[in-house]
Amino acid sequence: MNDLNALVVDAHSAFAASHSLADLENAKAQFLGRTGRVTELLKGLASLSPEVKKSKGAAINQVKQAIETALAQRRQALADEALSIQLKAQALDVTLPGRLRPMGGLHPVSLTLERIEQIFDSMGFEVAQGPEIESDWYNFTALNTPQDHPARSMHDTFYVEGGYLLRTHTSPMQIRYALSHVKRHQPLLDAGQAMPEIRVIAPGRTYRVDSDATHSPMFHQCEGLWIGQNISFKDLKVVFTDFCRTFFEASELALRFRPSFFPFTEPSAEIDIQFPSGPLAGRWLEVAGSGQVHPQVIRNMGLDPEHYMGFAFGMGPDRLTMLRYGVNDLRLFFDGDIRFLSQFR
Ligand code: PHE
Repeated sequence: MNDLNALVVDAHSAFAASHSLADLENAKAQFLGRTGRVTELLKGLASLSPEVKKSKGAAINQVKQAIETALAQRRQALADEALSIQLKAQALDVTLPGRLRPMGGLHPVSLTLERIEQIFDSMGFEVAQGPEIESDWYNFTALNTPQDHPARSMHDTFYVEGGYLLRTHTSPMQIRYALSHVKRHQPLLDAGQAMPEIRVIAPGRTYRVDSDATHSPMFHQCEGLWIGQNISFKDLKVVFTDFCRTFFEASELALRFRPSFFPFTEPSAEIDIQFPSGPLAGRWLEVAGSGQVHPQVIRNMGLDPEHYMGFAFGMGPDRLTMLRYGVNDLRLFFDGDIRFLSQFR
């Protein structure tokens, strides 16, 4: 009997030492398998007398049952353990509030460009895009800029290989857009008929060798061009005044057209604005260059200056953004600090 008790104790400890179902099957085989210890005992009964067989057989069967019970308990324990590990790994607290994804937004200068495009679109202007790497001809020559003009110097202009440069203003788009417009309507012109007006803005990046709190080597400009048979300086004043008052949502905003010089306009004017109230009130702030398109430039567009005339302007969207939001250092826009930029979303 002592041997039988020891057998149950051994089985219990073998099962307890099994930490996987595979281990447990191996442990079971040691006791209940074909050559297991219990099985061997049962086999040994055959040679015994019927009486001994009966009592010993009953004892062995009790042992066998005890071992089977222990096995079933251990199986259940291992299954419970596996389940709780799995549940822990897949833990999902459905009562937690969701995590917010940080939202992106447009750059403040992009917001300004969108606003400019919307306003001019409402006045019937097209929006055109052009190359930032430009030829000397489009950037200077076609715009009536003399060979020895200071803007052409290495101090002011980034030259790249092959006679190209990074456009120093968006004005080359006057020529590019006008030439393609004229080409499209050449049959009308050839037939002595009037061509539909050119009415376009061209926003984009521009480059100059310049860097301080109010100048960046890369900056933005937006060109405007309106050419027709009788488009005058008066129209420039109306259009640009309307634009500025809408842009700044200030119907009392004052504008000043200050005489100036550009090779591609005659007469030329710098446009200054003055806020009626707020922190900048009373100061004249320059926002654009402008003028009536020079007859030579009209000719370079493929048009006859006796029949076609109009105005052009070039404004600084970076400057407009600074004025609109009260930002005093241009470099903040291009440093890429998300803490600054995210304030404009
Ligand atoms: N291109 C000029 C500049 O960059 C601005 C301008 C554009 C002036 C169109 C007149 C007409 O300063």
